[in-house]
Amino acid sequence: MNVIDVKNLSFGYMDNLILKNITFSVEKGDFLGIIGPNGSGKSTLLKLMLKILTPLSGEIKLLGEDIKSFKDWGSIGYVSQKANSFNTSFPATVEEVVGANLFAKIGLFKIPDKNHHDMILKALQLVGLEDCSKKLIGNLSGGQQQRVFIARALINNPKILFLDEPTVGIDSKSESALYCLLAKLQKELGITIIMVTHDIQDIALHANKLLYLSESGIISYTQNENIKAEFIKQIYGIDLKLDCHNCKNNLKKEGIKC
Ligand SMILES: Nc1ncnc2c1ncn2[C@@H]1O[C@H](COP(=O)(O)OP(=O)(O)OP(=O)(O)O)[C@@H](O)[C@H]1O
Ligand SMILES: [Mg+2]
Repeated sequence: MNVIDVKNLSFGYMDNLILKNITFSVEKGDFLGIIGPNGSGKSTLLKLMLKILTPLSGEIKLLGEDIKSFKDWGSIGYVSQKANSFNTSFPATVEEVVGANLFAKIGLFKIPDKNHHDMILKALQLVGLEDCSKKLIGNLSGGQQQRVFIARALINNPKILFLDEPTVGIDSKSESALYCLLAKLQKELGITIIMVTHDIQDIALHANKLLYLSESGIISYTQNENIKAEFIKQIYGIDLKLDCHNCKNNLKKEGIKC
């Protein structure tokens, strides 16, 4: 089943056409990596699929429904490119940051009840931060903060999780832990993951589909996992090492097959 269908999509800011006649689809349980140079329109493409922006022409369907009439936004999680520049000296605890995404359910000035606390705890357990719920967000490391933002996006049990460069500014160990976490969400919970990144090596290793957005606003797209290395070689001229020892160990620890 397709959870996203994008057909003949075009978009520009003012007269500047950024995306030109783009067509692709994402199936349930896919891990789609979106790659491409700075300014090619990757974040713009995510914002179009989240209805933050409106297409110039073309069609977008989410979970089988035209985005124009789509209402089930609770099924969609989003970790924006700006999440990592969140003012982390803001005096909020981890559970408050995660619980902030429940306001739609509980109302802005209402106090969360036991059920809401359980939802917060479950989301923190998914990212392995259940012991940090009372800590101030500013006292966590960059990698842990990033996992808090993922927990915040997970709290409403999304079917699709969009992430825009979630590994920026974190060290390589935290980065591989983050990929392991995403693999777990995809493989164990069946969440469809759409991730924008510049980590060509890691994304080619973990994603089963890759979409390359060029500077001229068109895409190359691979649906076949077996040709990922060839695809990357064609675009970037580099040979991929499709074997990540570090990552495999991490996944093993978490009981997940890579
Ligand atoms: N709100 C805006 N108004 C006008 N132009 C914009 C706006 N947002 C982005 N752009 C332009 O659209 C183009 C695509 O931007 P976008 O942020 O989607 O690129 P990106 O691929 O995500 O880049 P990066 O890898 O640097 O995050 C860029 O040229 C950018 O300057
Ligand atoms: Mg971007």
